[in-house]
Amino acid sequence: MKFVTPNAILLPMAMLLSGIAHAAPNVQNGKAIDQAKCYACHAKKTGFSNGDMIYTRSDRKVKDYARLKTMVAMCNTELRLDMFPEDEADVVAYLNKQFYKFKP
Ligand code: HEC
Repeated sequence: MKFVTPNAILLPMAMLLSGIAHAAPNVQNGKAIDQAKCYACHAKKTGFSNGDMIYTRSDRKVKDYARLKTMVAMCNTELRLDMFPEDEADVVAYLNKQFYKFKP
């Protein structure tokens, strides 16, 4: 699979800004889940052949942190992806850190 990530620069910055002080959710786990369960469908549905672009498209649905949590929960329950609540939190953390960058 081919990855074109303008976020290669932004991610380290986001990591610096968000700090490591909080009892952080496992962002790596969130990323692994996104790649395993979410990426392929998003790539197909957007027609971009890039599953990250659904999170960064200009007309994206998610406008704030609460909405992000809702969307992740919705995709999880509606599609019966069987994520545990901790996994859901990890995915939310990953998506926010990598793409949305809301203040929780
Ligand atoms: C079977 C297909 C499918 C799978 C699997 C899937 N999604 Fe989605 N997801 C969609 C579609 C379609 C949309 C766009 C909905 C829309 O535009 O109203 C979407 C939209 C989203 C959005 C909102 C993007 C925006 O516009 O800002 C988030 C967040 C999201 N999905 C998270 C996830 C997560 C996390 C997973 C995996 C745990 C997942 N989705 C798995 C089909 C899927």
